[in-house]
Amino acid sequence: MKTCWVIYNGSLTSNKFRDQAELTAEAAERAGVRVRTVKNYEVMMQLDAGFIPPDFAILLDKDVLLGYFLVSRGVPVYNDPAVIDLCDNKAKQYIALAQAGVPMPRTIVAPKVYPAFSIRDSGYFEGVLEALGLPMIIKEGHGSFGMKVYLIESAEAFYDKVESLRGVDFVFQEFVATSRGRDIRVNVVGGEIVAAMHRESETDFRANITNGGKASPVELTDAQAALALQAAEAVGAVFAGVDLLFGPDGAPLVCEVNAAAHIRNILNVTGVNVADAMISYILEELA
Ligand SMILES: Nc1ncnc2c1ncn2[C@@H]1O[C@H](COP(=O)(O)OP(=O)(O)O)[C@@H](O)[C@H]1O
Ligand SMILES: [Mg+2]
Repeated sequence: MKTCWVIYNGSLTSNKFRDQAELTAEAAERAGVRVRTVKNYEVMMQLDAGFIPPDFAILLDKDVLLGYFLVSRGVPVYNDPAVIDLCDNKAKQYIALAQAGVPMPRTIVAPKVYPAFSIRDSGYFEGVLEALGLPMIIKEGHGSFGMKVYLIESAEAFYDKVESLRGVDFVFQEFVATSRGRDIRVNVVGGEIVAAMHRESETDFRANITNGGKASPVELTDAQAALALQAAEAVGAVFAGVDLLFGPDGAPLVCEVNAAAHIRNILNVTGVNVADAMISYILEELA
């Protein structure tokens, strides 16, 4: 019998993180795996000490240091912490997606500006405004549930936002108006599509369910399915929650790839427990 740790972040108080871990642990149990649901801080990363490793670990969090630590001790970790690391910084992720030729909104990665300094008078920002126009999206590198994604509608809001983000990784992005308030979430496991849902908000430009979006099952077009798989592959994600936008000509664009995607909403909407596919993928790979 194989042993597995399902790791989530113990510092987050919202129930949804524990719930996600339980959904995953239940799937592992169904597949005959002996599971321990572990808070990240319950694994002491003492570098000069040993521990009894599990046969594999599922890292549902962005504690990539823990992932690297476990990998250093020979534990197979899913997703690969390097992939979680890449996806957790949207700027890095977009560089990888662009390199792979993945269709996405036009994006400019913001330069590093040290918090005590400003490049306000350099002419740089005027260049960005000229390239992308308004309205525009500004998106922080680290952020989930739509919380660090901003719709910028005026020059004043633009300058306020860029000044407030000194010291933070972020990108400027074309606002895809044809996708306002709606997107598609596609869950990919091991190069296959497992489930998909359409999300739509009546109150916000962001479709995230946590932010008020309503979800419904959706049949993907061939183009949407192919793009979701291409995006997951481009960042190396075995498990991925890919967000797709509706481009002006109806063609899909990649909004982002989540390497630690939540699976509760997709279960509620489609009846598919993505974790079952995750576990069977891992067991096949480790067999
Ligand atoms: N360039 C864009 N144009 C239009 N809508 C966008 C764009 N980028 C993001 N959105 C909307 O904002 C939501 C959150 O953005 P996303 O990049 O997925 O960040 P998060 O990690 O917070 O979910 C998306 O689901 C989508 O509805
Ligand atoms: Mg998203």
